[in-house]
Amino acid sequence: MSEKKKRETFSSGFAVFFATLGSAVGLGNIWKVPYLTGAKGGGAFLLIYVLCVALVGIPIMVCEFYIGRKSRKNAVGAFEELKAAKGWKSIGFIGVVSAFLIMFFYSCVAGWVYSYVFKAIKGDFVGVTSATSSAKFASTLVGPMPPLIWQFIVLIVVSIILIAGVKNGIERITKTLMPVLFILILICDITALTLPGASQGLKFLFHVDFSQINGSVILTALGLSFFKLSLGMGIMITYGSYFTQNNNMIATSVRVALSDSLVSILAGIAIFPAVFSFGMKPSEGAGLLFKTIPLVFSKMPFGNILLVAFFLLTAIAATTAMISNVQVPVAYFTEEKGMGKKTAVLLTTGIMMSIGILATLSADSSSVLGNIHILGQKGFFESFDYLSSNILLPVGGLLTAIFIGYFVKREDFKLELSNQGTLNNASIINVLYVFIKFITPILLIIVFLNSIGIIKL
Ligand code: TRP
Repeated sequence: MSEKKKRETFSSGFAVFFATLGSAVGLGNIWKVPYLTGAKGGGAFLLIYVLCVALVGIPIMVCEFYIGRKSRKNAVGAFEELKAAKGWKSIGFIGVVSAFLIMFFYSCVAGWVYSYVFKAIKGDFVGVTSATSSAKFASTLVGPMPPLIWQFIVLIVVSIILIAGVKNGIERITKTLMPVLFILILICDITALTLPGASQGLKFLFHVDFSQINGSVILTALGLSFFKLSLGMGIMITYGSYFTQNNNMIATSVRVALSDSLVSILAGIAIFPAVFSFGMKPSEGAGLLFKTIPLVFSKMPFGNILLVAFFLLTAIAATTAMISNVQVPVAYFTEEKGMGKKTAVLLTTGIMMSIGILATLSADSSSVLGNIHILGQKGFFESFDYLSSNILLPVGGLLTAIFIGYFVKREDFKLELSNQGTLNNASIINVLYVFIKFITPILLIIVFLNSIGIIKL
């Protein structure tokens, strides 16, 4: 009880919102949502993604906030504090494994972004054409040494920030930088919309062709919503544990989900007009962002300086997402295994680097390990992504919803979400509860059974 009182909390609702958003906003918005939307059929995929955020993402985020604030503990300790049976700790364990799997490939992509900052500073993209842009990306990705070195630099930066304990300072800085990134994306949007043939890109992004929807599209969109909002891995439990007693957790979830989705959609509006205008394919895959964005900037005044700023801010957003998310395994090692902070950070990033090498060396079919397949036809890079986003995060989310729906007293849940009755939101809580107890888990189970081939959508 005394520990409960001592645990510090965020200073204001504003701080809560920005910190949570800092974990969510990252390469997911700028790199992954656009490239998957391109690869999985455009508007139809985007629609399913937005539905997954609303029907699954928001309810799960509220559950995680509840667990965190009610227990005031980290993701593993929280379940003990809530007097849950031992098995529930597995949610925290799944989260630790997911955080590792994601970091194996995320640190590689962050490395590409870091390298693009320097390439842009050197002026590599001045006078860029679609052919040279694609060639630049290919040389960035295949390596083998440069992408490995960049990945190493990324993990060193993350380690230094965590070990030096300047995470809070970093968060303060990002609070001011995030709006700048937002404005840069808006500038890209305006430029992209004036490109010849821009409307084709918009049509691709927003026109819903229902025939594109199938089981794999739904599973990918669902996995993406977890990845995007950093759900299913205990991160939001940890954030919830620092919330103030008067924070409206439902409103926070909705705001975070909306803002995050807005950033992703605006990134799509910057990218797809360029795809069509410059004669590229929306299904370019993981390189979509890197091939198109230099082209968009080449069409604006001060384009090269703004391009440097764009990749720099994207690198910062990726780094803050990594820092907040890598804390899950670090907290596990320090709090559950009694390790010192420095050892825990170095162990975590050390594992991330050693296995992350496999992701970096398999990012493209012409990479050194590009032809090695695990999990069916997937290489290491794709397998790490698939295992985390499409399997472990949804399983973690499902368990979280079941825990709240069936193992927590409804009254406790209502009291906490209404801030002991001070918020006038009983009907919203009731609707949300129906989602958490029935709709969200059923949706998750259906999509999941479909993905492993037990039922066919
Ligand atoms: N939310 C982050 C983004 O969209 C991705 C993310 C989720 C992540 N979990 C993570 C990144 C764990 C690193 C580690 O960019």
